[in-house]
Amino acid sequence: MLAELYDLEHDAVTEDLAFYREWARRTHHATIDLGCGSGRLFAELVRGGARKIVGIDGSAALLDRALVRIGADELVKAARDDGRIELALGDVRTARHPLRFRLAIMAGVVAHLGGPEDAVRAFVAARRLLQPKGVLIVDTIGPGGLPPHDLPLSVDWERPMGDRRVVRRSRLVRSEAPEGLRVEYVTLTDVVEADGTIARLPAGFRLWYPSPTALIDLANEAELEVETAFGSHDLDPLDDRSERCIVVLRRTTSGSEPGEN
Ligand SMILES: C[S@@+](CC[C@H](N)C(=O)[O-])C[C@H]1O[C@@H](n2cnc3c(N)ncnc32)[C@H](O)[C@@H]1O
Repeated sequence: MLAELYDLEHDAVTEDLAFYREWARRTHHATIDLGCGSGRLFAELVRGGARKIVGIDGSAALLDRALVRIGADELVKAARDDGRIELALGDVRTARHPLRFRLAIMAGVVAHLGGPEDAVRAFVAARRLLQPKGVLIVDTIGPGGLPPHDLPLSVDWERPMGDRRVVRRSRLVRSEAPEGLRVEYVTLTDVVEADGTIARLPAGFRLWYPSPTALIDLANEAELEVETAFGSHDLDPLDDRSERCIVVLRRTTSGSEPGEN
């Protein structure tokens, strides 16, 4: 049920699809989607020309949803049948794979990592998965997209899910920390059955949003160089008002393997 609700919420996010399709077209090679969730980006990556897609996520339920999504799209299903799509349950902080990729994507994932130390671990792991000069795209909410104050419990949205109706409420408590904005996000999801009975699903998340500068410093620590940065999927420049913080990082050819003995 939670995975289904996850899709109900995340399927509404479409403004980044063309951006990732274009990156798949440019790199035209194997792509690794780190924290792929239910594979929301796979269809775009296939259509962009990714030769192979490896999706890694820490949630088995979301990977099951990814399988359903793959089966529902003819082109993606054909790619899977050709062995060009691979899913693996794993932690992005320790992710490994025998292939080396020209493109790695970490979309909406950094906020779920514990903080700077975990982020560096994840960037180092991603760096090791890249070919020399391969690209890692880190995509998170930018300074202008973050709530400027705490948000009291209120209704976020109400949507149909089959013959049920879903009402999502949330409240949010923010705290500024040296490493960025920490957010306690509590959601209350009511699934209203056709007969009026309600299943209430509470959930809580601790999220972390580094400033763009802090994010770039952490990437540099992992020996990734900033190639470019955007403040939106329409390629607006990144600044203090940007809704998104999208940093395109390149593996330097000369760097060592940090932490690898
Ligand atoms: C907001 S979702 C984004 C999913 C997908 N990238 C997208 O853009 O639709 C964050 C995802 O990161 C995954 N995740 C968070 N921390 C992780 C970790 N340490 N290792 C693997 N996956 C993780 C979650 O399971 C979830 O699927």
